Amino acid sequence: MPTPVIQLERVGKFFEDEGVTAIKDVSFVVYEGEFVSLVGPSGCGKTTVLHMIGDIADPGQEEGRILVKGMTPRQARSQRVYGIVMQDPALFDHLTVFRNVALPLVVMGEKRKARQQASYFLEIVGIDRKFWNYYPYKLSGGMKQRVAIARALTISPDILLMDEPFGALDAMTREDLNFELLRIWKESGKMSILFVTHSIEEAVILSDRVIVMSSHPGTIIGNVEVGLSRPRTRQTRKTADFLQLVDKVRSFLEQNNNNQG
Ligand SMILES: Nc1ncnc2c1ncn2[C@@H]1O[C@H](COP(=O)(O)OP(=O)(O)O)[C@@H](O)[C@H]1O
Ligand SMILES: [Mg+2]
Repeated sequence: MPTPVIQLERVGKFFEDEGVTAIKDVSFVVYEGEFVSLVGPSGCGKTTVLHMIGDIADPGQEEGRILVKGMTPRQARSQRVYGIVMQDPALFDHLTVFRNVALPLVVMGEKRKARQQASYFLEIVGIDRKFWNYYPYKLSGGMKQRVAIARALTISPDILLMDEPFGALDAMTREDLNFELLRIWKESGKMSILFVTHSIEEAVILSDRVIVMSSHPGTIIGNVEVGLSRPRTRQTRKTADFLQLVDKVRSFLEQNNNNQG
């Protein structure tokens, strides 16, 4: 039996000040080693879901239950269960690439390990050594996001939470990084990834499973198993099976739009 690592039971979030129900009745499970994407239109509550799991959500009224490896999100965070990557790589401008990546472990007082892990993961994400002493402003968007991924990985998290990490990149770079991410995930062994995107194609090419959300209020309207064999390649994107899966996810979203008139 697969082991659940993230469990949401009828989770809701209401922002009182603005009177917004961001999400309602959101239930799903992510299993150990699984790659799951969350897709849905802008504003449907994807980020809210991810932030609640990662214990970094804005204050508001909450419902339901979230368990991460059997713990509350707060406990899980203190146990360094998560790596988190956002759309904005949010690197520190005054620190070199290497120091940015080492930072999470340096902050924890593990300097030696920080150096080892930073070297290891910078190699893994494909940042050439000659850039390790550069400051972030000298890097392209794609390279910055690679550095952000390396930084998230330095604590060797069991769970990687990613919020539209490639949304700001050009199509070619984005595709490259999709396949790089799959390689990194495979090399990690048992890491689970919850990946937020509004690109249906990106969700399908990456994932074992795609969870589809609708808006107002954000809730789950579909769950699509992606049975495509791995490793996946650019060729996979041209297969009939791939296109059919993209269509299946899209039809959940369209059906929902029609129902809302
Ligand atoms: N701090 C907040 N205060 C008030 N409303 C918020 C806050 N954060 C998000 N929302 C609202 O909750 C809804 C879901 O937002 P979000 O989770 O960011 O959606 P998504 O990531 O899918 O685009 C939106 O209507 C948004 O305006
Ligand atoms: Mg968002």
